Amino acid sequence: MADDPNHYDAIILGAGGAGLMCAGVAARRGRRTLVIDHADAPGKKILISGGGRCNFTNVHTAPDRFLSQNPHFAKSALSRYAPQDFIDLVDGYGIAWHEKTLGQLFCDGSARQIVDMLMTAATDAGAEIALGKSIRDVTHIDDGDRRFRVAFGLRTVTAASLVIATGGPSIPKIGATGFAYDLARQFRLKIVEPRPALVPLTLGGREVLFRELSGVSAEVTASCGKTSFREAALFTHRGLSGPAILQISSYWRSGQSVAIDFLPAANDDWLIEEKRARPRVGIRNALAARLPDRLAATLADRIGIDGELANVPDRKLSGAATRLSRWEFSPNGSEGFAKAEVTAGGIDTKELSSKPMESRRVPGLYAIGEAVDVTGWLGGYNFQWAWASGVAAGEAL
Ligand code: FDA
Repeated sequence: MADDPNHYDAIILGAGGAGLMCAGVAARRGRRTLVIDHADAPGKKILISGGGRCNFTNVHTAPDRFLSQNPHFAKSALSRYAPQDFIDLVDGYGIAWHEKTLGQLFCDGSARQIVDMLMTAATDAGAEIALGKSIRDVTHIDDGDRRFRVAFGLRTVTAASLVIATGGPSIPKIGATGFAYDLARQFRLKIVEPRPALVPLTLGGREVLFRELSGVSAEVTASCGKTSFREAALFTHRGLSGPAILQISSYWRSGQSVAIDFLPAANDDWLIEEKRARPRVGIRNALAARLPDRLAATLADRIGIDGELANVPDRKLSGAATRLSRWEFSPNGSEGFAKAEVTAGGIDTKELSSKPMESRRVPGLYAIGEAVDVTGWLGGYNFQWAWASGVAAGEAL
């Protein structure tokens, strides 16, 4: 069996960040490893990430920056493979990088450097990568160390271990699918309902008028329930986007409202103070001193206070300031998987042991990366999860 070219220690389905990382680690440990992907090139999401520069990690990585039905699940893998470990890898390959805002690290050059690094690490260690091949069938045969059989392209291969690393269905036009969930169902693993996350929200009804502000952005605090993010929000021709909205979208559920504080730096009495300091100014100009003109005009219209601040009672100004600090939007949906940067939900973490990422019920079956119900904030967290979970499985295979 040792000489059988179609038998492997590990077969990894998916040549994205998690799958390639896992392959490199497993192959370096002497495991005969095969990666299979239906796409004609590896790491397509890496290539389009971070505006082509790949925001490959975040120095503030911590378990509380990930969503999951079990918030403790990600702790083990994240603690054993930290951002510094990936930085060391990147440095080892001579890839120059820089820190942008909020602990986000990007390549100075191109995201392709990250894909090349992962491919080199995996293939130099002896992993085989089969691209452009559809997976026709996956079978659980459980025959000694031949536990799994995978038919793809013109080949049929067997392995002792099988790793699900095919990600989630966000951005189907570059080859993303819900294949991980099909496999999970086949192996009777539970799934937490997948939903688009890090995704623009859409507005309807009376709020449709805000679409006229398409292209306008401002630094706001966006909140949903107890969670809030202070970052830029952007009005679009369909609704709301920008980092603050993408972040909050991961927490938003249909029917909930999103509150926007348009002036997060202002105190509660700012309009009354403005009235004392510049009594001849109207609310529109008072807002325009702090917000983009078009946004100031729209908000002033909606608030419906006319004339000079000097003629407006403090009580009304105080009410207006409160409204501006908790402007409630009721999104009627999101732009869906077509535009979502990630998929929240996925293979239920209860099915997996958090250290090796192995199925509790099906020995030899692993799941890593976005396929699993662990979703990071915007800003490099999702790649850090892909690397960390990939390493965790790679060390266990
Ligand atoms: P990933 O989706 O990367 O890989 C899965 C692989 O499986 C793919 O190669 C796919 O072709 C293959 N596959 C799927 N179905 C298959 C099937 N049926 N048969 C065979 N193969 C199949 N994150 C971050 O931290 N920083 C960032 O800057 C960004 N930026 C960003 C921009 C955009 C536009 C998107 C869409 C996403 C991001 N992300 C991000 C998120 C990040 O890209 C994502 O979380 C990781 O790529 C997930 O890695 P995985 O390896 O788990 O899945």
